[in-house]
Amino acid sequence: MVDTPGLIRVIWWMTLFHPLHADTYCMKLETQESPVTNLILNWRKMELSWESSMNFSEYTCAVSTDKTSIQKKVESAPCHFPKEVKLPLHNGAVFTIEVPNTNISKSCAFCPGGMPGTAITNFSCVIYSVSLMNCTWHAGRDAPGDTQYFLYWQNSGEEEERECELYVKDENGRHTGCQFQNVMIKDTTTYFMVNGSSKDSLIRFHDEYIELYTIERLTPPLNVTASCTGYPQGCIIEWQEPLTSHVENKNCFQYEINIQNKDEPKEEKMDPPVRVRNYRYEFQNFNVKKIYILKIRARGKHCFVNSNWGEWSEPIEFGQGKDDFISVILVLIALGTISVTLLQSFLCKRYCSFKRICSPIPQPRDKFNILTDEDTQKEYVNLPKKGSTEDIIMVEEMT
Ligand SMILES: *[C@@H]1O[C@H](CO)[C@@H](O)[C@H](O)[C@H]1NC(C)=O
Ligand SMILES: *[C@@H]1O[C@H](CO)[C@@H](O)[C@H](O)[C@H]1NC(C)=O
Ligand SMILES: *[C@@H]1O[C@H](CO)[C@@H](O)[C@H](O)[C@H]1NC(C)=O
Ligand SMILES: *[C@@H]1O[C@H](CO)[C@@H](O)[C@H](O)[C@H]1NC(C)=O
Ligand SMILES: *[C@@H]1O[C@H](CO)[C@@H](O)[C@H](O)[C@H]1NC(C)=O
Ligand SMILES: *[C@@H]1O[C@H](CO)[C@@H](O)[C@H](O)[C@H]1NC(C)=O
Repeated sequence: MVDTPGLIRVIWWMTLFHPLHADTYCMKLETQESPVTNLILNWRKMELSWESSMNFSEYTCAVSTDKTSIQKKVESAPCHFPKEVKLPLHNGAVFTIEVPNTNISKSCAFCPGGMPGTAITNFSCVIYSVSLMNCTWHAGRDAPGDTQYFLYWQNSGEEEERECELYVKDENGRHTGCQFQNVMIKDTTTYFMVNGSSKDSLIRFHDEYIELYTIERLTPPLNVTASCTGYPQGCIIEWQEPLTSHVENKNCFQYEINIQNKDEPKEEKMDPPVRVRNYRYEFQNFNVKKIYILKIRARGKHCFVNSNWGEWSEPIEFGQGKDDFISVILVLIALGTISVTLLQSFLCKRYCSFKRICSPIPQPRDKFNILTDEDTQKEYVNLPKKGSTEDIIMVEEMT
C-alpha cells in the first residue's frame, strides 16, 4: 500500500523546489518492477490510463489528496473519476493502480505547476436574481505583477468547459471576478478552475467543485399580503414561494416572518422568530391601535435548495394605527348615539301603545284627548241647546 500522507509531503516538497511543467504528467513514485507501467493522467478529464504486461481481470484505481481519497474498480484501463467525486487537484494528488488479491501496484504523483502562493485565493461565487452568478477571487500574494488570471467552468458532465465571458477587472486590468448570465442550477456538481499566466513564472491553478444550489441567494417570497379582519382571527398574512430556476416542489421552503411595531421597531422583535412551512400565517397578537411592518424570507428545507436564509421581501405596512383617545371617544359617541336612539324608539313604542289602553294623563283632561274635532264641534253646536254655565266653561278651555 502507498503511504499517502508521506507522498503528499513529497509532492509539497517537489512543488516548492521543482516548479516544472508538471501539469501534464504523473510522476513515477516507485522504482520496483511492476507489470503495471506507464501511468498517464489527463487531469482535466480526471482520467488515468496505464499499460500492463499481464492480463488481469480487475484493477483498483485510487486518488488521494490532502483532504480525501477515492477508490474505483474497473476491468481495464483507463479509469475515469467522475466530476461527482468533487476532488480538487490544485494541491496535488497521488494516483494508484492496484491489482486486487496481489501485491501488484503502481503509483504516481500529480504536481501542479507553479508556486502555491501564485494561485488565486478566497474564491467564492453567489447566484442571485434566479439566474445571475458572480464569482470573485484575490490574486495570489506571490503572483508577479503582470499575472493575469482566467476562469473556466463546466456546469455539468454533459456540458463543455467554457471560459468566463465577462470578467470583472481591478484598476490594473487584472481579472478579479467573473459575471455569469442565464446560469442553470442543476442537481450535479459544477467545476470551476482559475489558471493564470505571467512572463516571469508559472502560475498555480486553483480548482473547486461547487453544488450551485448551495450558493444561491434565494429571492424574496412573492406577493406578500396582510389583511386584518379584526377579532377573532387577527391578521391573515399570505405569500407565494420565491422564484427559482430549479425548484418545482413548493414544499421545499421554510419561511421566516418578521413583524415589527412601526413605532418601536427595535424593541418588539418576535423572539423566537416565527417560522412556518406553508403559505399563510395568522397574526394573533394584533392590536388595532398599531401599525406593523411585515417582511418575509425563505430558505430551503429537505430539498436541493439553499438552507441559508434568502433576501427579505420589501417591507409592507398593515394595521389601522388608530389613536387610542380618539377611537375611545368615537366608540363612546357611537355607542351613546345608538343607545339613545334605541331607548327613544323603545319608549315611544311603549308610550304609543299604552296610550290607548290605559291613560297616564289625569282624568279631567282625558275627555278632551278622546274628543275629536267633530265631537267638539258637535258640543259647540249643541251649546245653545244645553245653555248651562258648566258647558260654557268647557268651550273656553277647548279654544
Ligand atoms: C491479454 O488478453 C488478450 C485477449 O483477451 C490478448 O489478446 C493479449 O495478448 C493478452 N495479453 C497478455 C499480455 O497476456
Ligand atoms: C510480491 O510478492 C512476491 C511473493 O509473493 C514477491 O516475490 C514480490 O517481490 C512482491 N512484489 C512486490 C512489488 O512487493
Ligand atoms: C481570505 O480567506 C482567508 C481564509 O481562507 C481569510 O483569513 C482572509 O481574511 C480572506 N481575505 C479576504 C480579503 O477576505
Ligand atoms: C455582482 O457583480 C456586479 C459587478 O461587479 C455587482 O455590481 C453586483 O453587485 C454583484 N452582485 C452580487 C450579488 O454580488
Ligand atoms: C488555462 O486552462 C485552459 C483550459 O484548460 C487552457 O486552455 C489555457 O491554456 C490555460 N491557460 C494557462 C495560462 O495555463
Ligand atoms: C403575484 O400577483 C400578481 C398579481 O396579483 C400575479 O400576476 C402574479 O402571477 C402573482 N405571482 C405568482 C408567483 O403567482
